Amino acid sequence: MENQKQTGPEAPIKVSTLNCINLSNPDIHQSVSLLKQACLDCGFFYVVNHGISQEFMDEVFVQSKKFFDLPLDEKMKILRSEKHRGYTPLLDEHLDLENQVHGDYKEGYYIGVNVPENDPESEKPFNGRNVWPESGVLPGWRETMEKFHHEALEVVKEVARIIALALDLEVDFFDKPDILGKPIAILRLLHYEGKISDPSKGIYGAGAHSDFGFVTLLATDDVMGLQICRDKDAKPQIWEYVTPIKGAFIVNLGDMLERWSNCIFKSTLHRVLGNGQDRYSIAYFVEPNHDCLVECLPTCKSENNPPKFPPIRCSTYLSQRYKDTHADLNAYNK
Ligand code: OGA
Ligand code: NI
Repeated sequence: MENQKQTGPEAPIKVSTLNCINLSNPDIHQSVSLLKQACLDCGFFYVVNHGISQEFMDEVFVQSKKFFDLPLDEKMKILRSEKHRGYTPLLDEHLDLENQVHGDYKEGYYIGVNVPENDPESEKPFNGRNVWPESGVLPGWRETMEKFHHEALEVVKEVARIIALALDLEVDFFDKPDILGKPIAILRLLHYEGKISDPSKGIYGAGAHSDFGFVTLLATDDVMGLQICRDKDAKPQIWEYVTPIKGAFIVNLGDMLERWSNCIFKSTLHRVLGNGQDRYSIAYFVEPNHDCLVECLPTCKSENNPPKFPPIRCSTYLSQRYKDTHADLNAYNK
């Protein structure tokens, strides 16, 4: 077993068991304890009864597929902007420079919080105008995505309240105006084309990475693909599949929260393997306000456990992480 290589479809399939948080559970202590255990362990858990209806989730997936079904030249008309809005083509994102021969076998579409150019806030790096397919092309598309963006933020705020309690902070520590009042919230539709991944050749749907920010909500269709690695330093690394649960979000903590909590809460390495089937997922990345100072939380340090990182502004941290993982936009101007 020692040198067993995780190659292709013949690799043993290991499936992860994750805690499931029911957001409608009146017993908040139970939710806090389940979430805390998950966050100390791997930072991945399911969330159910989150208030977004199944019908609406289904509709968002239908609309997402419609977009990716458009001809490439139509999609390239709304190539992602400097503000991270719009279409990201196949191979555009390169998450694991060490192990991937080229970018991810996925295409995506970014939708952020809309901040018009005449708003002084639009100067900030992740604020900007959303871009949309021409209205005649996909009627109702924009409205569906805007509604989802809005509803998913409410889910994140609810999760953030439980995270705060799990860190022995006030329940509204994160869910208050100067932290999640003007968040950097990015919805990302994803389509993994039916390419079979082959780790031995460096080919992945999405390369191994941990998410950059605070919290990510992930909705997927029923095609398996997402894997997590609980111990990135293990040799060989052990990858476990995360099974999709109908109607649930898979929630994971990002590096910013790991840093904020002085590494008490975990942000775990994950990746996506393609199995030859098309796969659709929707990720919603939420980070605090641009100016929020991410500084070791008061409950996460002590004399014996001093802060491991200096304070950093949320947007400074995030800008750097984006730059490191995305192709240079000038490459498409040729
Ligand atoms: C991501 C991610 C997983 C998936 O976009 O950061 O990990 O299943 N996505 O698409
Ligand atoms: Ni991720």
